[in-house]
Amino acid sequence: MSTNLTKTEPDSSRAIFEESESNVRGYCRSYPVVFTKAQGATLTTEDGDEYLDFLAGAGSLNYGHNNWALKDELVDYIVRNGLTHGLDMHSAAKRRFMEAMRDHILRPREMNYKMQFTGPTGTNAVEAAFKLARKVAGRTNIVSFTNGFHGVTLGSVAATGNSHFRNAAGVPLGNVTFMPYDGYLGKGVDTTAYLDKALSDGSSGLDKPAAVIVETIQGEGGVNVASNEWLRSLERVCNKHGILLIADDIQVGCGRTGTFFSFEAAGIEPDIITLSKSLSGYGLPLSLVLMKPKLDQWKPGEHNGTFRGNNMAFITAAKAIETFWSNRDFARDIKRKSAILSAQLERMGEEYPGIAEVRGRGLVYGVECEKPEVAAAISAEAFKRGMIIETSGAQDQVVKFLPPLTIETNELERGLEIFEESLQAALAGFPEYATELKAVA
Ligand SMILES: Cc1ncc(COP(=O)(O)O)c(C=O)c1O
Repeated sequence: MSTNLTKTEPDSSRAIFEESESNVRGYCRSYPVVFTKAQGATLTTEDGDEYLDFLAGAGSLNYGHNNWALKDELVDYIVRNGLTHGLDMHSAAKRRFMEAMRDHILRPREMNYKMQFTGPTGTNAVEAAFKLARKVAGRTNIVSFTNGFHGVTLGSVAATGNSHFRNAAGVPLGNVTFMPYDGYLGKGVDTTAYLDKALSDGSSGLDKPAAVIVETIQGEGGVNVASNEWLRSLERVCNKHGILLIADDIQVGCGRTGTFFSFEAAGIEPDIITLSKSLSGYGLPLSLVLMKPKLDQWKPGEHNGTFRGNNMAFITAAKAIETFWSNRDFARDIKRKSAILSAQLERMGEEYPGIAEVRGRGLVYGVECEKPEVAAAISAEAFKRGMIIETSGAQDQVVKFLPPLTIETNELERGLEIFEESLQAALAGFPEYATELKAVA
């Protein structure tokens, strides 16, 4: 791994992006290099510099870049002229994926769901879930939570809390009511009790929703972790009032928290589940809505899209499930790595000034900084040292750890070392932390 990389000045290799790519571009501003290759947890630039990837395609690369097993399967499929595009027609690739999903994921968990393939990105799955819930319930309102992120198309962004995304919508956003997420009103306040009260009171002003949408851990919202108790209570409130529960597992599903679905530890049974990001396992676009069979009230073609069902993604998704989820070894390995990650981050949280909280589960962790500027400085210092790690949260105050689940132990440890060096370098720039920082040294 290269260290002290300094190639951040604009140069001709990036001129086309700066001249001609829309201002809307985002991540490339934080990591101004040109990548050419990637393998496992390592990204390589055209200059040959290597970066340890703790962003993993914002959660789309749980099995790492170009995972060997998945790549071999995909290359073989392409060489055999396997179907790439087929609208939503039957294909052997789709059958293999559906059988893998049924046999290795749903049945072992005693989950009975039908599968809907939507357009390729996560927000397509959320749109379909909302449409279906509204159609089935015959009501328009959706309850979403503070700091929730569900995508940027109009239906999904209406359920997204952050004003940065909401303000870009260009039209009034409606038919969604926001409720406080777990912890939003402080530790020990059960915000589901408030939801229950509002739903029970015809004068609360809350229009009875068709559904409640929830992330068990709010990835974009700052790695806010809902407790299992809170999730169970939320499910009880939904059942009591006849409201559908949608689990948006787009970012923290597919093993991120240590189990295939992030809500398994809570033991809840959402009515609808959205999956995307790491579902294909290879970074290929693929989205899925799982619904309890009685909810499947769609008419043929009523919600469509040209790119429903990406056959190359079906191949890698099936292979990923067969490889990683046909026994418990992978889940055990995530747990082992999670223990390393959480122990180190919690130690740093206690030793260093400027850290408000360390929180997470599995291999998604957040280090919340008292000042957003510190989080930004840590990410920038890490990049200089050959590591890619992003910030999240309402003020981008949380440094978010999202390494591939397949990361090697030594790479995870190296990432933690780089993070600690970057934390020290970042804090050194803030005089208010100088005395405490000296005490650590
Ligand atoms: C929980 C959640 N839902 C939905 C989305 C939207 O997915 P996409 O960006 O693929 O549309 C995201 C993306 O970060 C997400 O984290």
